[in-house]
Amino acid sequence: VVDISSLYASTGAFTYDPGFTSTASCESDITFINGEEGVLLHRGYPIDQLAEKGSFLEVCYLLLYGELPNKEQMEDFEYRVTHHTMVHEQMNRFFSGFRRDAHPMAIMCGVIGAMSAFYHDSTDISDPRQRMIASLRMIAKMPTIAAMAFKYHIGQPFVYPKNDLSYAGNFLRMCFSVPCEEYEVNPVLARAMDRIFILHADHEQNASTSTVRLAGSSGANPFACIAAGIACLWGPAHGGANEAALNMLAEIGSVDQIPEYIKRAKDKNDPFRLMGFGHRVYKNYDPRAKIMQKTCHEVLAELGIKDDPLLDVAMELEKIALTDDYFVEKKLYPNIDFYSGITLKALGFPTTMFTVLFALARTVGWIAQWKEMIEDPRQKIGRPRQLYTGAPQRDYIPMEKR
Ligand code: ACO
Repeated sequence: VVDISSLYASTGAFTYDPGFTSTASCESDITFINGEEGVLLHRGYPIDQLAEKGSFLEVCYLLLYGELPNKEQMEDFEYRVTHHTMVHEQMNRFFSGFRRDAHPMAIMCGVIGAMSAFYHDSTDISDPRQRMIASLRMIAKMPTIAAMAFKYHIGQPFVYPKNDLSYAGNFLRMCFSVPCEEYEVNPVLARAMDRIFILHADHEQNASTSTVRLAGSSGANPFACIAAGIACLWGPAHGGANEAALNMLAEIGSVDQIPEYIKRAKDKNDPFRLMGFGHRVYKNYDPRAKIMQKTCHEVLAELGIKDDPLLDVAMELEKIALTDDYFVEKKLYPNIDFYSGITLKALGFPTTMFTVLFALARTVGWIAQWKEMIEDPRQKIGRPRQLYTGAPQRDYIPMEKR
């Protein structure tokens, strides 16, 4: 009979860390976070500098290759991305298989997973060339597929990519242009979209990125791994939080209701939490939240939205929470999701698209992390252990004796 309790003793050091709050699953050169100080660096560069001065494709290059591109490298990279934006025409038929009111994230999980069926000439992960083609394909096609999921969801015809536009401008056009009407990309809104993509590009070993790494550790193809990441991102505690934050602001409704909700958030017997507040790693202001707040103001100003009640509630809520003892003691600060919902809504996206936009932007982070793992010679299949708490070994009992 196996003595279960002695099993762990015989395996040497064994840690139990639910939620992996203090366990590193890998070494990585890509992203650094100091949660106490509120610092986020990609390949050493602060997120605020990248968001203010860089473009999303520049950040993609940085995440993938480790250095900022020079002019020629950037032009070459942009050329290669813009020459992969079309999706195979047969994919249109794949879309038609979904129910007409399908959630766009459900469509994304299916379509991205199916890419390995459409592009099986870039699924051999042992070939560096195929790995790079798969990476470029995914960065390039994600806006097209995300826009197709959106158009399908709202019942409008698909819009093909127009590759002389910027990455974000092209995406906005594929989402918002309609047949028989001219569509001009608004440069301020395209810049805001680009910045939102930069802010979501990577965030080290969060749940979806860890999922991508774990899936990839078995040798699964990159499209399957990214589909796994998308499925994980869909959860409300992760990519779904900006939708929840926007719903909460709408529920609060007006500034005079805020104290009531603050009281509820502090009540241990009430499951209500201030959505868009708190973070597993940041115990300071999320550096991305500050840039998102600024972007939100820029978008509303450009669209001539002067008095947005949601923004009024958000700003007052932030002010009150930041001086409240409960939030100060627990180090609960606004996270990126607090202002992103208002901004995306102003840009014209329904809440069902919020997590899709997050997935679009995070694709480069997932790919960079997946490539880093595959290229690490020490890479092993991810295989967490467990602490077994079930029945001890016992003998099978025939049914008539149970
Ligand atoms: N409102 C009120 N109280 C909160 C909040 C909140 N938003 N967040 C945490 N707390 C309290 C908890 O009740 C807990 O109190 P206790 O110590 O008295 O029990 C304490 O702060 C610590 O909270 P945990 O849930 O243990 O912290 P954890 O690191 O596990 O959770 C999380 C982080 C999930 C983000 C949490 O802060 C939360 O639920 N926030 C709201 C949802 C949200 O905004 N998610 C987006 C995250 S960012 C992203 O995914 C891009």
